[in-house]
Amino acid sequence: MGDTTQIPSISPQATVGSLVAERPARATVFSQYGIDYCCGGKRVLDEVCREKNIPLAHIMAKLADIDAQPSDGQEDWTKQSLQSLIGHIVTCYHEPLRKEMPEILRLAEKVAKVHGDTHPEMVTVAEIFRRFKDELEQHMQKEEMVLFPVIARMEEEQAPQVFGCGSGIAHPLAVMTAEHEDAGAALYKMRELTNGYKPPQDACNSFRVLLFSLEKIESDMHQHVHKENNILFPRALSLSNAATADKTGSI
Ligand SMILES: [Fe+2]
Ligand SMILES: [Fe+2]
Repeated sequence: MGDTTQIPSISPQATVGSLVAERPARATVFSQYGIDYCCGGKRVLDEVCREKNIPLAHIMAKLADIDAQPSDGQEDWTKQSLQSLIGHIVTCYHEPLRKEMPEILRLAEKVAKVHGDTHPEMVTVAEIFRRFKDELEQHMQKEEMVLFPVIARMEEEQAPQVFGCGSGIAHPLAVMTAEHEDAGAALYKMRELTNGYKPPQDACNSFRVLLFSLEKIESDMHQHVHKENNILFPRALSLSNAATADKTGSI
C-alpha cells in the first residue's frame, strides 16, 4: 500500500523552496533541470520556468509524477521540532563536511600540482575549494556555537532571544543566508570550470575521484542550504515574531 498522506497540490505561484520543503523528492526534478531550490528557493516556480525557458506544464507534470509515487519515508521537516531539525543538519551535513573537506582539499591540491600545466582550471578549482572549505568551516561553527543553540532555546522557552550584539534573530539569519549565497557561488564556479564535473579524457583516478567528490558536496550542500534557508530559518523567524507578539501582548 502506498502512503496515503495528503500531498498539497502544486501552484505555479509557489516558491521552489516551499515545494521542496513540502515534498523533498521534488528536488530531483529541480536538480535535473538546473533549478536552484536552495539559495534561489524564494523564487516562484512560474517565473523560474520562464527564465530558464522550460515549459511550466512540463515541470508541473514531472512534479505530479513524483507526488504520485509513494513517499520515500523522508522526514517532513516542516512539522518536526526545530531542535530535531538542527540535530539532523549537524549530523547529516556538518559532520560529514568537516570530515570530508580536508581530504578533498588534499586531492584538489594534488591534482592542481600534477595536472596544472595541461588543466590550469584545476589550479583555480583548488584555490576556490580552499576558500570554500575555510569559510564553510567558520560558518558551521557560528551556526553550531551561536545560532542553533539560540533557536533551540527559543523553541524550548517560547520566548524571543537576544544575541550578544543585542540584535534579534533576523540579522544573524540574514548574515547566514548571505554566506550560503557565497558558498553557492563558489560551487557554481567550480561546476563551470570543470565542465559540469565531467572528467577529461586524460584524467587519472585522483582527478576523477576529485570531480566525483565535488559533485557530491554540491548536491549535499543544495539539500543542506535548502533545509536551513527554506525551513529552519523561516520557522525560527516566525517563532521569534510570535513570541515577541505574545510578550508585547502580555504586558
Ligand atoms: Fe549549516
Ligand atoms: Fe548554513
